[in-house]
Amino acid sequence: MTKVRVQFNQNLKAPLMGADISSIDKAVAEKVRAFHSTFPAYTPTPLVKLDQLASEFGLKNIVVKDESFRFGLKAFKVLGGTYALGTILAEKIGKDISEVDCEYLSSEEVSKAVGDITFASTTDGNHGRGLAWAAEQFNKKAIVYMPKGSAPIRRDNIRSHGAECTITELNYNDCVRMAFEKAKENNWITVQDTSWEGYTEIPLAIMQGYTTLAIEALEQMQELDVLPTHIFLQAGVGCFAGAMLGFFMSVYGEKCPKFVIVEPDAANCYYVSACANDGKPHNVDGDLLTLMAGLACGEPNLNSWEMLLDYPVAFATCADEVAATGMRVLGAPIKGDPPLTSGESGAATIGFLHWLMQSEDGQETKERLELNEDSTVFCISTEGDTSPELYKDIMWSCKNSL
Ligand SMILES: Cc1ncc(COP(=O)(O)O)c(C=O)c1O
Repeated sequence: MTKVRVQFNQNLKAPLMGADISSIDKAVAEKVRAFHSTFPAYTPTPLVKLDQLASEFGLKNIVVKDESFRFGLKAFKVLGGTYALGTILAEKIGKDISEVDCEYLSSEEVSKAVGDITFASTTDGNHGRGLAWAAEQFNKKAIVYMPKGSAPIRRDNIRSHGAECTITELNYNDCVRMAFEKAKENNWITVQDTSWEGYTEIPLAIMQGYTTLAIEALEQMQELDVLPTHIFLQAGVGCFAGAMLGFFMSVYGEKCPKFVIVEPDAANCYYVSACANDGKPHNVDGDLLTLMAGLACGEPNLNSWEMLLDYPVAFATCADEVAATGMRVLGAPIKGDPPLTSGESGAATIGFLHWLMQSEDGQETKERLELNEDSTVFCISTEGDTSPELYKDIMWSCKNSL
């Protein structure tokens, strides 16, 4: 069987047609970045231009944003947790996020004003680590649940920030539901990086948090004088992809690049929804086990599923091997290009690009996507070696699946 299947969008909408992206546009991103800039750990992550790889693939440019450097936590996710906690705490003391900073929110004055607060969530690793870190910065408690099959190192990383963390016997979707019920019973605040009916405000703040990386990347691409023609976005629940798509659509308008959504076969809810083509989101159930742990989510989120069904030109579903290849392409580059440490979920899009540009199976899709010597492809390596043993197994021992 082919390692990748691609469904083209049968209902593709023109950029901006019918979309309300005011909550995720450049003005919002400026505000979000201003808040993130108050953290001592803040520094923009690098954007890397891979000229040798572009030449090998027959493309004009390949640019990759490297989130392995984000806040020392090796993944972009902390941008969401910090911004969500920031907005919750700011609201509790009657202020706008633009009136507070990291130091003030960590102060005793704020702690006294807001009282004891516990934040709770479910994670396949990176969101929970980001949330635990954010709670630690603001001297608050965090309780985190993980789905069955989660790597113990990811649990330990979360615990290292003072949070309680348990690996459950549930799949991701069921774990989210269980944690939400538990939080209600105990009066904890659920800070979940996915939304559903009746729970959209905090996930929106999380999506807004991600726009810091988008505005950084925009400016870095402008400095390099590159304009993306294609943006590939990996999706779990789709909050990340929705935030990126909304932001870049607000910036580029009608001249928007082509977006492609990339998912693992085990949790390909956007691909399945695009195939069904009935305008509704469709869920994927089962154990959702994939190397791409960050993408192992089978239910599209409410905040961005409509946008994600309307504007991407195509949806790709990939075998684990594709992500593993992407990690090697980035980690062991052609001489002249810098190496990137990219984890399983981070490298999925470069793995997909490799399949398009280097395999016979990918030829037809490559042509339909109009990928050629005039194309500039932008990918985001959303995580580094968040599971270091697995990273070595994949890079050094050619592991290709769980
Ligand atoms: C490294 C990484 N990349 C991408 C994603 C996908 O984000 P979303 O679930 O919002 O689609 C995640 C989610 O946890 C992740 O950890």
